[in-house]
Parts: sequence; C-alpha cells; structure tokens
Amino acid sequence: MQEQLESVRKSFLTDLESFPDNSTGLQDLKTKYLGRKGQVASLFTHLGKVDNADRPKFGQLLNLLKNELQSLYDKKELSISAKDASSNRPYIDITLPGRSPSNGSIHILEQTLLEIKEIFKSIGFNIAYGPEVDDDYHNFTALNVPEHHPSRDMQDTFFIDPQTVLRSHTSNVQIHLMETSDPPLRFIVPGRVYRNEAIGYKSYCLFHQVEGIYINQNVTFSQLKGCIEYFVKKMFGPKKKMRFRPSFFPFTEPSAEVDMWDDEKNQWMEILGCGMVDPAVISNVGYDPGKWKGFAFGMGVERIAMLKHKINDIRLFYNGDVRFSEQFS
Ligand code: DAH
Repeated sequence: MQEQLESVRKSFLTDLESFPDNSTGLQDLKTKYLGRKGQVASLFTHLGKVDNADRPKFGQLLNLLKNELQSLYDKKELSISAKDASSNRPYIDITLPGRSPSNGSIHILEQTLLEIKEIFKSIGFNIAYGPEVDDDYHNFTALNVPEHHPSRDMQDTFFIDPQTVLRSHTSNVQIHLMETSDPPLRFIVPGRVYRNEAIGYKSYCLFHQVEGIYINQNVTFSQLKGCIEYFVKKMFGPKKKMRFRPSFFPFTEPSAEVDMWDDEKNQWMEILGCGMVDPAVISNVGYDPGKWKGFAFGMGVERIAMLKHKINDIRLFYNGDVRFSEQFS
C-alpha cells in the first residue's frame, strides 16, 4: 500500500511538471488523479483490503496525499489563469519615463490681433464687431460701390443669394457703426472676411482684417498718416521700411495703400488700404458731410503676421499643423 501511494504521488508530480502553461487538458489531469474514479479514489477502495491494524495509518496517509495533490493542482490552476489574464492585456513598461502633457498656446493670428488691438486702444480707439454675413447694401452700395460698377470686381465676392454676401471686407462695419451712433466716433473692427479668389502664398479664401474708422470735425489726411505710422512703428519697430502709395477705393478720397518692405522676398508687400472717408459715404449714413469728416483704413492681419514673423505662406495659418503653431508659443 505504501508503495502504491508513493507511485501515484510520483506520477502526479511528473504529469504536473510536464504540464504546459495553459489550461487545455488541465481538467483531464484532475479527473485522472482526483476525479471520482481517479487514482486517489481507487487507492481508497484498496484501503478495504488492508489489515485492520494498518488501516488507520494508511487512511491517514491517503488523506494527506489527497490534500497534497489537491493543493498542488489548485496552485497550478491559479498560476495558469493569472498568466492567461495578463497575456490579454497590453504590455506596460512601468519603468519608462512618462510623457508630459503639451501646453496649448494662443494661435499666432490671435496673438497678432491682440497686439493690434492693444496699439489702437492706447490711442483712443474703441473695439467693435459686425456681421460676417451681410447684405449687399452694407458691403457695397453704402460704401459708394454702386450696382454694376466695375469696382465691385476689385473683390471676388461669395454670394449667398443675390442680396446677401459673405463680407468681402470689414468695411461693412463702418456703415453699421455710423448708422447706429452719432459722430464723433473712433473704432477699430477686427474680423474675418471672405474672397473667392485664387489661393496662393499671399491670398486665401478666408482671412482677417482690422478696419479702422475715425469721424470728427476737421479730420485731416496728416492725422491719418500719423496714426498709421504710429501703428507701424509700434508693430514692427522704428527701423522697418514702409511707404504710402496713392491708390483708389470707392469709399475714400483721396486713398492710399501702405506697403512694408519684405526682407525675405526682397519686395514690397501691401498691408493696408486707407483714405479720407468719401463724402458720399458720410451722407449715406445720414451724417452731414459739410460738418463731419473722417479717415478709415483696413489692414490684412495675416500679411502683418507674415512680415513680422517671416512666415512665407498664408496657408500655414489655416492647416492646423502643430509644428507650425508651436513655434509661436
Ligand atoms: N476694404 C479695403 C479692402 O478690403 C481696405 C480699405 C481701404 C479699408 C481703404 C478702408 C479704407 O477702410 O479706407 O481692400
């Protein structure tokens, strides 16, 4: 009996040791040794044939064996199921240094707008906003651009219907402001504008302008020049080359454009249009053109940011590439 016990034990240990690290066949192993008709059970039936005197001793040994095999089996089962569970999980190397969260920052266009606003606020301009979808009257007619006039073609406009446009410039807000408040007034108007034009390194279908309008008695062209020069010097520093160039806009007379020297491309780059508000515009909003005069300007924010930060393509502002935007954080 002693030998039989020992041989069952040995054979169990061999089977267990050679058992692969997965659960297939594990149940069979259990049945073979610990099942109702397994080897341990059959040892118990042998117990009946043992001498009465030896029976308690072997009974005890048999119980010890049964418990030992059971606990070895349980251990094996546990280790296999733990392995199964962890092999389904992605491997995590907890010794790797962590990834620190990257900080967001203000987009370079917004930073430029903030700077422009600060400069004009410091010389008494208020800030106003106006509609991006507007009627033809505010975008064109009231600004002295009559229907069918060739100057409408200066800006390729997106029409929503024959009377409604995506504003092609922020000048529409000049009209809204003058319609709703009495002179004198002094505002800048930042905002998005839209143009259906060929896309290139300096033109995009959407861009930003900052409009300026100052209405008072006795406003002069030299005040306009002084104001623009002050802005340019604050924005670019006193050494940057600029020039006023005579130009034409239907809503100003006389009109000018301001160019900045682009050191990268070695050429002038236009950044704004300006002029003395045309008396026709003054009377369109119901002001007395004999009493009130004004100057106005409209600048391209992308162009200013491009010059200031040596950005060579306007499309970079809009493609959302963090490798671009994080250079300005
Ligand atoms: N609206 C013009 C444009 O988009 C820019 C402009 C020129 C605005 C002269 C003005 C102005 O207010 O006086 O090209």
